[in-house]
Amino acid sequence: MRIGSLQLKSNLFLSPLAGYTNLPFRLVVREVGGVGLCTTDLVNARSLLEKNKKAIKLIETRAEDSPMAVQLFGSVPEEMRDAAMYLESIGVASVDINMGCPVRKVCKVGGGSAMMTELDKTSALVSGMVNAVKIPITAKMRLGWDDDNLTAPDLARALEDVGVAAIFIHGRTRQQGFGGTVNLAGIRKVVEGVKHIPVIGNGDIITPQAAKMMLDETGCAGVSIGRGAFYNPWIFQHTLDFVATGALPPEPPFSERVRVLCRHLDLMIEIFGEDLGCKMFRKVAPWYSKRFGPVHQFNKKVVQVSTRVQFMEVLDNYTKWRQQFLDERGELLPRFQPPPMVASFMRDEPASTTREHIPVPKGPVEVW
Ligand SMILES: Cc1cc2nc3c(=O)[nH]c(=O)nc-3n(C[C@H](O)[C@H](O)[C@H](O)COP(=O)(O)O)c2cc1C
Repeated sequence: MRIGSLQLKSNLFLSPLAGYTNLPFRLVVREVGGVGLCTTDLVNARSLLEKNKKAIKLIETRAEDSPMAVQLFGSVPEEMRDAAMYLESIGVASVDINMGCPVRKVCKVGGGSAMMTELDKTSALVSGMVNAVKIPITAKMRLGWDDDNLTAPDLARALEDVGVAAIFIHGRTRQQGFGGTVNLAGIRKVVEGVKHIPVIGNGDIITPQAAKMMLDETGCAGVSIGRGAFYNPWIFQHTLDFVATGALPPEPPFSERVRVLCRHLDLMIEIFGEDLGCKMFRKVAPWYSKRFGPVHQFNKKVVQVSTRVQFMEVLDNYTKWRQQFLDERGELLPRFQPPPMVASFMRDEPASTTREHIPVPKGPVEVW
């Protein structure tokens, strides 16, 4: 598939997950295979221009980490433009604009969902970026503020008119936060709202079946996967196989999950140093372990590791402890197998909507 001038190997994307989609994880996902484009965590445009150390670390990359998009946020048109120009000058493949992150810090400075409330201002900002660079500028948004204000189709169309090369749409409103069901009909409206550019659907894709259902039911050109890639970095390759053949590849065995887990840790240590890399890995390892079966023993210990040796000891002890849940072939006994994962939009019963309500910022919300 193509995004502007950028030819991609697949129509599957790694969504930005602040704190997670760093260089080590992007490399892991690419090594496992199937992903077309990976995006960084969101980066503050001004911090990037000021060469803030943390911002520079967020865009750290290497040849194997290609093609890579950097996601920018900010509300000052000149800063967004100059940051895009800087990213182009260092070889970044495309720039994504964050328009739908409900984190308060982002909304306060006028980026994130607040941007959707001011269509003209937003179009001008985006137009300034598009005209300043040759690489594609894309935009990521939610469906709107709430169910009564599904503004994404209009915003997507307006952004297409000023030259955005693709739209990433998380099929939830801002009011939903991360709860409730992803709205496939809402994504479809965005697909129908634009003239030519690809729309990439996003939200709760945790299995290849969910990816296929989103593609089929919304008509989107591709899908972007965030948390699903953490539970399962194999999801991209498995989705390609499933869409091509209709057959679901077998779940990776424990040994393969452990191999990739260790590779991820080694990359974290290589890129962030042993102490910081191990500390950061404390929140990564439990994502992998969700599919290990009984895992309490592992999760309790892994959040204390500070060195690779300690990590290997925890893993070794856990692997021995886990034996009691295995049959003679080394497979988890059926009663200990984790339940199959089912996306919110594929469940028979509606997903819980009891998750905490995320307050919307005050301001011009009502008029948009
Ligand atoms: C921990 C976390 C961090 C996120 N950080 C970002 C971000 O930096 N930029 C962004 O546009 N979206 C961010 N998101 C939203 C995801 O990119 C994605 O739209 C959302 O999680 C739904 O997709 P998923 O169900 O595949 O994860 C984040 C989500 C989570 C859970």
